[in-house]
Parts: sequence; C-alpha cells; structure tokens
Amino acid sequence: MPLVDIRKMAVKAAVEKTGLGAFNVVLLEFAHAEVEAAESCGLPVILQLSENAIKYHGGHIAPIGKAMLAIAEQASVPVAVHLDHAESVDLCREAVDLGFNSVMYDGSKLEDLENRKSTAAVVEFCHAAGVAVEAELGEVGGKDGVHSPTARTNPEDAAKFVADTGVDLLAVAVGSSHAMTERSAVLDTGLISRIRDAVPVPLVLHGSSGVSDEGIVAAIEAGMTKINVSTHLNVGFTSVVREALAANEKLVDPRKYVGPGRENVRNEVARLLNLYARR
Ligand code: G3H
Ligand code: ZN
Repeated sequence: MPLVDIRKMAVKAAVEKTGLGAFNVVLLEFAHAEVEAAESCGLPVILQLSENAIKYHGGHIAPIGKAMLAIAEQASVPVAVHLDHAESVDLCREAVDLGFNSVMYDGSKLEDLENRKSTAAVVEFCHAAGVAVEAELGEVGGKDGVHSPTARTNPEDAAKFVADTGVDLLAVAVGSSHAMTERSAVLDTGLISRIRDAVPVPLVLHGSSGVSDEGIVAAIEAGMTKINVSTHLNVGFTSVVREALAANEKLVDPRKYVGPGRENVRNEVARLLNLYARR
C-alpha cells in the first residue's frame, strides 16, 4: 500500500494511548525484518533512516532510501518512512524529494533561536510537500556517546517551541539516553504527563533501547506516542550473528549468519509492537 501519513498514525495512537513503534534501518535486512514483523502483528510501523546510517551507506540517501520506500510500499500494513536525526537541512530536502513522508530535523545542538528558525524553515518546505516534521527540544542525553540521562524538557518551553515552529511531533528529554545496551534507564513519567498536557502534538521517546518493557508501557500510559528503538535491535542481531559464526567456523555465505540475525530482529520487533499496542 502507499505510505501512510505518520501524523494520522500518531494522532490515532495518542488518542488510543498506545505506542507507535519506530525502528532504525542500519542494514537493509532491518527494513525487511521490521515490515515482516508489523505484518505478522497487523500493526503500523515506522522505518527510520538516520543521517549516520546514510553516511555508512556511502553518504547518499538514495540507494538505501529507495530500497526502504520499495519495501514499505509492498507492505500490507501502514508504514511511514522517516529520516531520523538529520542535522542537515539539505538532507531533509533530499529525503522529501526522494519520497520520504516524515523527517526529523535535529537542530538541538544549535543556539535556541537558530534552532527555532531553521526548524520552522524545514516545516515550511516539508508541509508544502505533505511531509511531517519531528523536531527536538532539549537534547536527549547520550547522543554523542556520553551517558548523560539528566537532560530534561520543560513543558512550557516545549509548548512554545511547537507554537513557534509548527512541528507535527516533538522529541523530548525525559530520562532516556541514546545507545544504551542495558535497559536500566528510569523515565520521569510525571514529566511526560506534564509535557503531554502542555503540548498539542504527539511526543517522541528517543533512546528507548535503554528502557525496560515496564518503563516503556508506563511512558505510553503517561502520554508518550512514538517509540524510537535502534541499539536494542543491534544487540540482538549481533549476538545471533556471533553465535552462528562461532558454531560453524566454515560458514562463508553471509545469508547463513545474517539471516538468523534478521529473524531475531523480526521476532523482537513483533514482540515490541504488541507491547506498545498493549495486547
Ligand atoms: O532516533 C533513534 C533512537 O532514539 C534510537 O535510540 O539506539 O538508544 O534505541 P537507541
Ligand atoms: Zn534518537
């Protein structure tokens, strides 16, 4: 089916108080696994490609991005294809031109006024093309490899940021930290509720890999909607690949060890999607 507007998916999920799973595509196998998982559950899913992953894939969005779009368009469930953590406005334009229907413009490292101005400019050209925009206020801890889950978003600042920029979804800092391999982060659910009450758009949790199942469910109940997961899938994928290689030193066909890793991603995404849908 054609791509589905992330705004429609997110508003529906927010009203129903369910979570919307957004999973990073590091290798193309992840896109296949994530869509197969969503189909097996009959639930929507967001495939997301980060600026960092684009750098890994030769520095061009088109080859991996077009493949993701093709996989999404063949899906039997609603799928959105999202550009994740783009610090470059030009890359946001490229994603829109390629057919992505959602972008995250990440100006969180910029000085506040500059972040608001450039986010508003991204919103203008994205909305003209029917593309949704996620942005970030209050840098989520750990993005630069620093384990710093102390950043917090102020609810009133968040509301003003949305009003100033016109973004459709807002990533907030509530205790999670990027790239954690242990699920030990503790989220401030009271703050999530306060931001939820102050902000008129669905909220996004980054760094969800570091949060336990119970923590994610509590965050969704408190008002979190889009749940971004990457590292947790990498951990499972890599451990299965490592086991497959250790079990047979003669293995040379990548399909024989990457395949089991992909199956692990599919199973875990299906489990998480059901958890977020609270069923
Ligand atoms: O934008 C992507 C996410 O925030 C993923 O973070 O790798 O810590 O799950 P994570
Ligand atoms: Zn993130």
